Parts: sequence; C-alpha cells; structure tokens
Amino acid sequence: MDKETNSKQIRVKIADVEIRGAAALAPMAGCSDLPFRELCREFSASYTVTEMVSAKGFILGDRKSDELMTLGKNEHPAAIQLFGSEPQIMARAAEKALRFSPDIIDINMGCPATKIIKGMAGSSLMRDTALAGRIVKEVASAVSLPVTVKIRAGWNKDSINAVEMAKVCEQNGAAAICVHGRTKDQMYAPPVNLDVIKAVKESVSVPVIGNGDIETPEDAKRMLEYTGCDLVMVGRGALGRPWIFKIINEYLESGVLIDEPPVKERMGIMLEHIERLCRYKGEYIGMLEARKHAAWYTKSLKGASLYRRELSMVKTFDELKKISERIIEEQT
Ligand SMILES: Cc1cc2nc3c(=O)[nH]c(=O)nc-3n(C[C@H](O)[C@H](O)[C@H](O)COP(=O)(O)O)c2cc1C
Repeated sequence: MDKETNSKQIRVKIADVEIRGAAALAPMAGCSDLPFRELCREFSASYTVTEMVSAKGFILGDRKSDELMTLGKNEHPAAIQLFGSEPQIMARAAEKALRFSPDIIDINMGCPATKIIKGMAGSSLMRDTALAGRIVKEVASAVSLPVTVKIRAGWNKDSINAVEMAKVCEQNGAAAICVHGRTKDQMYAPPVNLDVIKAVKESVSVPVIGNGDIETPEDAKRMLEYTGCDLVMVGRGALGRPWIFKIINEYLESGVLIDEPPVKERMGIMLEHIERLCRYKGEYIGMLEARKHAAWYTKSLKGASLYRRELSMVKTFDELKKISERIIEEQT
C-alpha cells in the first residue's frame, strides 16, 4: 500500500490550520508516540495529537515531557495535548510548548483515569464548565495558535452536558471541539453516542471532530453523515493498522474500499514502525514497547493468540524480524 498522502483537498480549517483528509489520529497515552504518529500521518491521517502531557510536570521540568512533545519532521499539522486544572499553569505550559513547533494546542477534558480526575483535570472538567472555560481562555490568550479541546459526552448518564461544555469552550476561544461520544463513567466500552456529537455540531460554529469506535471506513462515513461533524478521530482502530487513514480517505473521496494490506505487507509496515521506535527510544525500550504493537499488528491473523504469547517475550529487533518472516510463511 502506497504511503503517499492521498488527500490533497482541504477538508476544514482549524482557525488557519488547513486540514486535509477526514480522519485524524487520536491521542493515546502509551501508544501514539512520535514514530507511530509519523507513520499514521504518512498513511494520510489528517492531523495527529501527542499523548497527553501534564502541564504542571512540564513547567516543573519533568524530563519525560520533552520526549512526549517532540514532533516528527513529517508530522505536521500536529497538536500537543496538555492536561491540567490550573488555568495559569496550563497557559504557561502552552507557551513553553511552542518551542516544539506544534500547529495546535489541544486540551484534555476527557481522560477518565483516576489519577487525572483526582487532580480535577481530564474528564473532571466536564463537572466544572466554568473552570473549563477559564482554562481555554487563559491558554488561548497565551498563544497565537489555535486551541482545541477534547471532551466527552458528559460525566455520567445523568449529566450529559457536551453541548453546554462545547459552547463554553467556543465562547472562551476554542477553535475546534473534539467529542468522544461516551460519558466518563462509560470509559471505553458501550457503543458511542452519535446523537451527542450531532447535538454539539448543531450548537457551535467551530469545527467539530467526532470520536469513538471507528474501526472501518463505513463507520467513519456513518459518523460523518449522521452527526454532520467535520472530521472523525480514530484511536484504537489505528493500533496495528496505521493504514486505516488511507482506507478511510480513499473510501470517502472515491467510494473505493481498499483491502487491508496482505500479511507480508502488514509485517513490513510493522517492522518499519518498530525499527523507527527502536531508533527513537533505543532498542531496549523500543522492543519492550514493540510487544504490544506487534500483538496489534497480528491480532486478526489465524492463531493470533500463539503469536501474541511469543511476541510478548521478544527482546531484539532481529528476533522480531525472524518471527515476522515465519508468520508470513505460515499465513501465505
Ligand atoms: C490506550 C489509550 C490511551 C489514551 N490516551 C488518551 C490521551 O492521552 N488523551 C486523550 O485525550 N484521550 C486519550 N485516549 C482516548 C482516545 O483518544 C479516544 O478518545 C478513545 O479511545 C475513543 O476513541 P476510539 O474508540 O477510536 O479508540 C486514550 C485511549 C486509549 C485506548
């Protein structure tokens, strides 16, 4: 599968940032690092978002932040995502993040993890729209880049307030709103609520990005058509399948449904991904992280659970290469 970005048409602008293609890569802590984001972008992801970065940690000089915020040469347009609950710290972090040359600053208002919501950040902000608004306002006045927010449908089923939240964010300067159509209580499991995304789209004038459960081009088309959202954002559907962006774009632009790549090609893409990962993080860390990616790349193959067991112990790139050669032989 040819990696060249196939979407030339500008689909939407987030402030003055031109976005081509309909499907963006979602931020995923522990997964969407620079090598993966760059690969997705090469397969025509319309833009990428870093893993979430603690605004406070970054301001205090946490060394991990720099690695999380470094963007690839071929990645742009790209957003750096910050989380936090203190407007001024968020604004200072956004300003300091400019040294990594992002195109967009994104604010995490959807993370359901306990340690994040305990600090009143992530999806906790869904329960305090006034604070959410102050954060957007401070960040938007600290930087001249577009500031986007990523929200959920609400905190729980009794407080579905994405529309109110989106309006507050827009009034305070958000240039686009991404809605993950689930509540914080729903975490990642039940089907995504398209009606909430539709309601947000109907109530704000900035671009809306719909997110949740997009695994196929048909899923993307359905979300775009049903909700009227401007773009979709793909998370888990891209793990072990960075080519999904190309398949989605091709389907939306020409109606042609490209096949998933055959095993040999898939293994080739996996090796290219892991090689870049090892180059970026060193072979030791790279190969530890490669184990989960390799499991995703082989997930749909016959006998995947046996491969997963073997791949969960792989230590060197050469070893991975040998296993992938054997997988190709066994599967073809
Ligand atoms: C492993 C993992 C890590 C995630 N990390 C983040 C994150 O750092 N920031 C964020 O806003 N959302 C994060 N999310 C949520 C995703 O961006 C996305 O909203 C969610 O997975 C739903 O989309 P999907 O059904 O396409 O996966 C994460 C999700 C997963 C599965």
